Amino acid sequence: MYSYIIEGNHSLQGSVEISGSKNASLPIIAASILNKTTSKLYNVPNIQDTKITLEIMKLLGAKVKKANGKVQINTKDIKKTQIPEELMGKMRSTVILAGAILGRFKEVTFSYPGGCDIGARPIDLHLKAFEKLGINIEENYGFIRCKCDKIIGADIDLDFPSVGATENIILATVLAEGVTTISNAAMEPEIEDLAKFLNKMGAKIEGAGTNFITITGVQKLKEVSYQIMPDRIEAGTFLCIGAATAGNIEITNVNPEHLVPAIHKLQEMGCMIEEKKNTVQLIAPKRLKAVDIKTMPYPGFPTDLQSVFGATLSIAKGTSVIVENIFENRYKYTSELKKMGAKIQIEGKIAVIKGIRKLHNAKVEASDLRGGAALVIAALTTKGKTQIDKIEYILRGYENFEQKLRKIGAKIQKLN
Ligand code: UD1
Repeated sequence: MYSYIIEGNHSLQGSVEISGSKNASLPIIAASILNKTTSKLYNVPNIQDTKITLEIMKLLGAKVKKANGKVQINTKDIKKTQIPEELMGKMRSTVILAGAILGRFKEVTFSYPGGCDIGARPIDLHLKAFEKLGINIEENYGFIRCKCDKIIGADIDLDFPSVGATENIILATVLAEGVTTISNAAMEPEIEDLAKFLNKMGAKIEGAGTNFITITGVQKLKEVSYQIMPDRIEAGTFLCIGAATAGNIEITNVNPEHLVPAIHKLQEMGCMIEEKKNTVQLIAPKRLKAVDIKTMPYPGFPTDLQSVFGATLSIAKGTSVIVENIFENRYKYTSELKKMGAKIQIEGKIAVIKGIRKLHNAKVEASDLRGGAALVIAALTTKGKTQIDKIEYILRGYENFEQKLRKIGAKIQKLN
């Protein structure tokens, strides 16, 4: 078990280069199964979640080479169609591999996915869509086996714009017969990135990034090189770090368009923000103002930034109300924040945060990736030293987190 010791109460200043997107890398790595040849990926973050996914790719039979953010995957020799259970349990997005394996081999076996404990996280929408594509699904002792002779395009209407289900449908139908449409598709930028990657490989996907996507099946795909988009959640986290520490922070290698809801909230909180082509600069006021936030599917406010904003608002002037509409169990971090003096009341999906001037230090524990990042933000604002345990959760999604924080003046140490 690793921990962070953070000595807070320093105003953070300087420039942070944002890494490649975790949530775009995972489906894109999975998509490399489809071309049966080499994919060269640039800007892949070196974090636990990409390491696990690449580990699974190797166990399936792929050849993987890694160096400085570049990952080369050759999937020619993949023969296995069962996702190893032990690694499947480590993170939820391994379910994305199912769509890609199905797309290529017309069969896949996997167990229920793991991941952060932020809600029930069922996969019913994925399975319903697979059935609509003519895939036979059997569930036995926790294993799900999907099989068919061929995948035939269909019109799929999602009950909810699930990111994972949208990605899985795309992956399963790129090589299908005929045309597939997805109505009420998720519109997240990571889905657009996946479609751009696949189109560069020879797929025919239109409308990714909107709520209606058309996939026209093709027979063959080719080698591809691709630069993964920047991580908009890491970017939003560093903007909150600047905001909470009365800092002056520039984030580089970002797409400001992807950050619109976060930037609007930070402006409402009193931050001065300047956007340029690939950078955003934030100058925070001495004391932030309270705001209300409702998480929504993209282009709404992202659930993945709810906790880092929650921590930031715990020291704002006034009362903030957060409504978490995506995951039902995403307030675990607030009980840890309360140990640091935060005044937060939770009622179902609503959090009422009465801002106080200063949090105090304490010994706290991360319970999920973004909730863990929220505790880091809280710790950076307190006088004295805060110990955060179970930071493995944080390391799943933030590349070189301590190094980046130290570069802007944070006093942070990793212990084991
Ligand atoms: C992805 C992101 C995650 C982000 C989330 C929402 C990755 C690797 N992860 O997760 O960081 O927080 O989008 O933006 O990209 N649901 C069902 N049935 C299903 C599928 C989903 O009920 O079959 C529900 C979920 O329980 C949840 C909601 O739909 O309440 C959103 O889930 P989804 O969009 O699928 O999120 P993920 O793809 O798991």
